[in-house]
Amino acid sequence: MAVTAVCPGSFDPVTYGHLDVIRRAATRFDRLIVACLRNETKPGLFQLDERVELVREVTADLNNVDVEVFDGLLVDFCRDRAVGVIVKGLRAVSDFEYELQMAQMNSRLGNVETLFMTTSPVYSFLSSSLVKEVARYGGDVSDFVPPAVADHLSRRLHP
Ligand code: PNS
Repeated sequence: MAVTAVCPGSFDPVTYGHLDVIRRAATRFDRLIVACLRNETKPGLFQLDERVELVREVTADLNNVDVEVFDGLLVDFCRDRAVGVIVKGLRAVSDFEYELQMAQMNSRLGNVETLFMTTSPVYSFLSSSLVKEVARYGGDVSDFVPPAVADHLSRRLHP
């Protein structure tokens, strides 16, 4: 039986840390859906369609990865697609407490399992927020995000 997993996130913007988890997860499941959150209450730096486009672009070489948008509860998205596994990256112990809560809530709400992948050590300090801050002040983000993302950051923050 083919197994599909969902890798959810805001991806504002996608970083090499996200990409590392997506790539590794894609080797362990038949299909991986990268689900980008539509969050009307918390607008990001990038519009949803830009975030989705960038994730599509940087995962274009992964044949079993699809990129979709979701809003509302993640468990509803999973139920509608008959997906029973959520994959999340864990960078550090500080991530764990909140991730544990979400995993347990998603298990209770929708009987969906969350599997954690430890982030590769080279990316364990990375977050979209920090990348945006570095880019905002003119720092070099080329080690942290793919070129297409660096380009978008530069055009958005230093037009
Ligand atoms: O990249 P992020 O912002 O850390 O991703 C967080 C995300 C999108 C995975 C999380 O906020 C989420 O699943 N939101 C959807 C709403 C939901 O299902 N909430 C209940 C989770 S316990």
